[in-house]
Amino acid sequence: MTQQNPSQATEWNLTTRLVHGGRHKGAHPGESGNPTVRPIYASTTYMHDNVEALDQAFSGKTTDGQPAYVYARQGNPNAYGFESAMANIEGGVGAVAFGSGMAAMHAALLAAGLTTGTKIVASQDLYGPTITLLRKLFSTIGTQLVLADFCQPEIYELIRNEEPDVIYVETVSNPLTRIVDLDAISAVAQEIGAVTIVDSTFSTPYLVRPIEHGFDLVIHSTTKYIGGHGDSTGGIVISAKNTLLNQLRDYSNLLGAMLSPFEAHLMSRGLRTLSLRMERQCNNAMEVARFLQQHPAVAQVHYPGLPEHPSHQLASKLMDHEQFGGLLAFELQAQSREAVFRFIDKLELCISATSLGDVFTLVSYPPISSHRTLNAAELHKMGISNGCVRLSVGIEDVKDIISDLHQALAY
Ligand SMILES: Cc1ncc(COP(=O)(O)O)c(C=O)c1O
Repeated sequence: MTQQNPSQATEWNLTTRLVHGGRHKGAHPGESGNPTVRPIYASTTYMHDNVEALDQAFSGKTTDGQPAYVYARQGNPNAYGFESAMANIEGGVGAVAFGSGMAAMHAALLAAGLTTGTKIVASQDLYGPTITLLRKLFSTIGTQLVLADFCQPEIYELIRNEEPDVIYVETVSNPLTRIVDLDAISAVAQEIGAVTIVDSTFSTPYLVRPIEHGFDLVIHSTTKYIGGHGDSTGGIVISAKNTLLNQLRDYSNLLGAMLSPFEAHLMSRGLRTLSLRMERQCNNAMEVARFLQQHPAVAQVHYPGLPEHPSHQLASKLMDHEQFGGLLAFELQAQSREAVFRFIDKLELCISATSLGDVFTLVSYPPISSHRTLNAAELHKMGISNGCVRLSVGIEDVKDIISDLHQALAY
């Protein structure tokens, strides 16, 4: 079986690479006619011509550098196709796909060397379970955790003083959509020799490619925009360095957290339409943000596309296509949990569910979903009020989305 070397496609533009990355090119010996789409390899084990070849395959490569498979937990052709495409698109040396975003995050932290006696400085705005993972799993084994506001100018001095081993941020914060200056953070990290990790789930490579801004490891929960259809769970880590990539592969194998062939097939399929979906979702989100901004029942809108948003200038610099993502948050004038519940229960088109990045518009209440594990003081510190609503804007006709929000706000 031969497969396209992703480096052959580096001159294609991003949208083309999203459609053709990880393209399947191989036929099986003796067969004629290649499927244009990689078949789903529903096999646990792989046979080789002789034991010599099997022995070589355990290294993960054939003697001429092609991928070699032995046992599904160690890798499969569908995951390989997805990993090749993502590495190419993000500009990494390689990528490892996982069964969920959380599994990808766990492996990335281990690969970065986070263990007993090391220190991590992480953004206080991270996805709730990420903070819980750092506290429950890493702090208990003796990792020192420092949470800080990465949108304040003092952050650079704090990092220099703390001298962490690892720095962890998200491109766009959840749910207030604040943006981190990736170039400035990676520059300080380089000064002190810290490994940099960024969760780029919200921005996707369509908008931002953090390796171009000096980051070492890029994580996506591919359950979100990359899968895009609310029907598959996965994660991926793209590495800028071979040493980190090898660590990631080892941890994927040891944790048994690999992406299954079927889910990898769905992720590769999602990737082909990512730019179309993102373009529509970003445009729709901008219109929805403007609508909410002028609505009397809404106190504040958090969307980096709005000139009033504190991260607008930075977002304009970092994000491509003059677009700002499909996710926004807003605060009801009635700053209460009851008012938010009433509003959400009145929605007819927008779906009340806890994910984001799907083709349909999703609404959620962060204090009971993404930030459920944080207490009231922590929510307050992060600026998440009782009236905060998160909206992941879908690809529907934006007039229908706005009309649904309009009727639900009129109570
Ligand atoms: C920013 C971010 N990172 C990671 C995750 C975890 O991903 P998964 O649910 O695929 O494990 C999520 C889930 O919502 C998320 O929003």
